[in-house]
Amino acid sequence: MTTVLAIDQGTSGTKAVVTDGEGRVLGLAEHPVRPVYLPGGGVEQDPRELLDSVLEAGRRAVAQAGVPVDAVALANQGETVLAWDPTTGEPLSTAIVWQDRRSEEICVRLREHADRVAQATGLVLDPYFSAPKMAWLRENVTGEGVVTTSDSWLVHRLTGEFVTDVSTASRSLVTRLDDADWDDGLLELFGLGGERLPRVAANDEVVGSTSAFGGDLPVCGLVVDQQAALLAENCLTAGEAKCTFGTGAFLLANTGTSATRSTAGLAASVAWRVRGETSYCFDGQVYTAASAVRWLQDLGMIGSAADLDVVAADDSEGVLCVPALAGLAAPWWRPDARASFTGMTLSTGRGHLVLAVLQGVAAQVAELGDLVAADLGRPLSALRVDGGLTRSRVLMQAVADLAQVTIEVYPSEHATPLGAAALARAALDPALPLREAVGGWKPATTYEPHWPAERAAEFRARWHEAVRTTTTRQE
Ligand code: G3P
Repeated sequence: MTTVLAIDQGTSGTKAVVTDGEGRVLGLAEHPVRPVYLPGGGVEQDPRELLDSVLEAGRRAVAQAGVPVDAVALANQGETVLAWDPTTGEPLSTAIVWQDRRSEEICVRLREHADRVAQATGLVLDPYFSAPKMAWLRENVTGEGVVTTSDSWLVHRLTGEFVTDVSTASRSLVTRLDDADWDDGLLELFGLGGERLPRVAANDEVVGSTSAFGGDLPVCGLVVDQQAALLAENCLTAGEAKCTFGTGAFLLANTGTSATRSTAGLAASVAWRVRGETSYCFDGQVYTAASAVRWLQDLGMIGSAADLDVVAADDSEGVLCVPALAGLAAPWWRPDARASFTGMTLSTGRGHLVLAVLQGVAAQVAELGDLVAADLGRPLSALRVDGGLTRSRVLMQAVADLAQVTIEVYPSEHATPLGAAALARAALDPALPLREAVGGWKPATTYEPHWPAERAAEFRARWHEAVRTTTTRQE
C-alpha cells in the first residue's frame, strides 16, 4: 500500500499529512505562516518561512506516522510568486501573495488586450493571477534570477529541478488554456519575453527526488491546492462542484476534458492532467473568507474562529457586509473594490456585524454557484464543501439558504493534501485508475436551505445594491 507525505503549502500555513492508500491519516503536522499586509494592497510572505514550514511540518508528520513513506506530494497556493537565484536557490524577493493587489496598474495598462488574453488563457486580466505579479516584481524589485510561482522554488529547493505543474501554469495568464503551455505572445505582452521558465509537468509525473524527509523519495503529485480539493471531493465528472473555505473561498466545477471558456465571468483553468488527458474546471473566488474572520479577530470582535457561531446574532437586523477586503473577483473583477458594512443603527452590536460578515461570504459563494449554473445550463444538484470554516454551522447554513442548494460537508479536514496524495499514487502506479486513487466518501453533515427562495432573492437583491457601492473606480 502506497504511503504518501502530502504537503499543502497554503496562504495561512503549511499542513503535512502522511496518508495511506485508504485515505487514513497516519501523521499530521501544521505550521502557521502569517502574511504581511501592506498599505496599498500589498500582501507578502517570507519565502524562507514557506520553505522552513514545508520542511518542519513534513518532518514532524513523517516522525509521527512512524512508517516508511513512498513519495512526497506538494499542493501550492496557485498564484503566489517570487524571484530567486537558480544557481544558489536563494530568494531575491519576498513572495508576492495571490491576494496582493499592487499589480492592478499593470492590468489597467494592458486593458485593451483583455479580450485576447481571456480568449487565449480562459482567465481574466486581474492582479490575482501570477503573470501581473511577476511583471510587477520585474518592474519594481529585481531583474535578476528567475521569477516563478512558489511551487517551482519549493520543488527546486527539494529536488534541484526547475518545474511547475500544468494546473499551476494555467493560473498564470501566460499559458494557453487549450494546451496549457507557455505562450510567447502573452509573455511578451507582460514584459516577460526573455524569462527562463520552468518545465510544465503533468500532475501524475514524478518530477525529481528529495532526501529532505528521510530516505530518497520521489516528488510527484504537484498541483494547485484548489484543484487538489476538487479531486479529493471526487468532482471527476463535468458539473460536479466544490467550495473550499480557506484563507479565501474557492468554488470550482469540473467542466470535463474540453477547454471550455466561461461566458458568465468565471475563470477557466486546468483541473489536472493525468494519464495524458487534461481535465478542466471553472473557478470563482471569494478573496477573503478566513482572512475576513481573522480580520474580525484582529479587531477584537471574536477571540478565534471557534467563537463565530457563539457571537453571531440570530438575525443581522438589516446590516449587510460586502467582505471585499482584498477586492472582488468573479463576476465583478474589481481589484479596487473595498469592503463595506451598510444598514447599521445605534442598536447594531458585534453579533450583527459578525453575522453580516458570514452572510457576506455566503452571498458571494451563492453568486459563484449561480455563475457555474449559468455556464453549465443547469442548477448545481449539490455543493460539496471543505476547509476550516465549514466548522461554522452559521456560515454553512447561510450558504445553503442563499445559494438554495444542499451543502455536503467533506468528512476530512484534509481535502487538499488528500487530493495531492491521490495524484502521487497515480504517479507511482500507472495502472491505477484516478477514481480508485481518490476513493469514495460520504458527507459528514449536510445542510438544506431553510429560507424560502423569495427570502434568499430579497436578501441577495439588497446585497447586490451594497456591492454596487463598494467599488471606487469610475465605470
Ligand atoms: O488561489 C489561491 C488559493 O488557491 C489559496 O488557497 O487555501 O491558501 O486559501 P488557500
